[in-house]
Amino acid sequence: MTTEKKASDKWRAATRSVRGGTKRSGFNETSEAIFMNSGYVYDTAAEAEASFDGSGPERFVYSRFANPTVAMFEERLALLEGVEHCRATASGMSAVWNALAACTKAGGRVVGSRALFGSCEFILTTLLPRFGVETELVDGTDHDAWEKALSKPADAVFLETPSNPTLEVIDIAFVAELAHKAGARVVVDNVFATPILQHPFELGADIVVYSATKHIDGQGRCLGGAILFNDKEWHDNHLTQFLRHTGPSMSPFNAWTLLKGLETLSLRMDAHIRNATELATFLSQQPQISNVIYPGLASHPQHEIAMKQMSGRGGGLIALELAGGKQAAFSLLDNLQLIDISNNLGDAKSLATHPWTTTHQRVPGEDKLTMGITEGMLRLSVGLEDIDDLKEDLFAALNV
Ligand SMILES: Cc1ncc(COP(=O)(O)O)c(C=O)c1O
Repeated sequence: MTTEKKASDKWRAATRSVRGGTKRSGFNETSEAIFMNSGYVYDTAAEAEASFDGSGPERFVYSRFANPTVAMFEERLALLEGVEHCRATASGMSAVWNALAACTKAGGRVVGSRALFGSCEFILTTLLPRFGVETELVDGTDHDAWEKALSKPADAVFLETPSNPTLEVIDIAFVAELAHKAGARVVVDNVFATPILQHPFELGADIVVYSATKHIDGQGRCLGGAILFNDKEWHDNHLTQFLRHTGPSMSPFNAWTLLKGLETLSLRMDAHIRNATELATFLSQQPQISNVIYPGLASHPQHEIAMKQMSGRGGGLIALELAGGKQAAFSLLDNLQLIDISNNLGDAKSLATHPWTTTHQRVPGEDKLTMGITEGMLRLSVGLEDIDDLKEDLFAALNV
């Protein structure tokens, strides 16, 4: 007998984050159990046969296909996002790749926004074309460019908003309307906004992808990804084939870690945003910094749309440009005593990186500039430390 509480449709987001998806085993454990097993056993050969030919009751058959701990994470995140389905993956990039691969095929066409995380850009510019898919990247803030690109049929539209690292904000509802007319599914990478701030499905998205490695874990412990959607037919006929047969499965241990991360996501985001908002204003006042990009600042080029689609909040990431270029950016990084130099983000610890030479090193210089990445730019993932310690660290490093 188990004593789990049945999820209620009335549960609000914080309750869904803490309790959604919990399934207790016969031991009635409080915290979710880690089912660290690859296989499952059958009482009879006939039961095994029925599990594979679909005539028997739905059950776990192999952890590459599904696993109880991973299923709890999937259900909790789907409840938080307010959608029917979620499939967990081993990393954010496996979520991006599998979502896009399940939308298109050789001879197809994918349109994306140009300001992308380095590996997302690689998938669009290099990997998909290698498999015979035509791809086109547009300036995500240019409505005419979207209209032109989507005047021709497409299978999918891919966009990050806010983008990594330039924090470009794209009008999801505008793009979704055009995309649907072009026959495309809209895939939104919602990593920077998190499910707490932004609800792309309400704005017309068909698929949302996450790197759960970031704020969902929130403590730099493990990799994970997720693909969320309502269209079961797309899943059953396309996505599930990629996941089942190519095996980008999430580890049960990582699913458990991420379940714990979801329990505190909303509280942590409040604190990340409080710190980031104060730090963005503080950094804007420093003479060595020529530009601060933060969606919560009125100076952000898409501030209005950011506030409209991100619940009126700017998120936990800031991009800043040093007037002294790469040398000044490196000097700032090297003189930080508290904030770590790291290309990860969404951690309790504040982390700073130089995108030109790390996350986007592989992208040719000219393309980086077109994406808005300059040699003097740093990306700051604002953590949960005391705001005065963060300010003092940055001030001292800027003024050596
Ligand atoms: C916007 C965005 N999408 C996807 C990814 C990929 O996530 P992962 O590192 O979990 O594969 C990242 C990682 O930095 C990211 O920032």
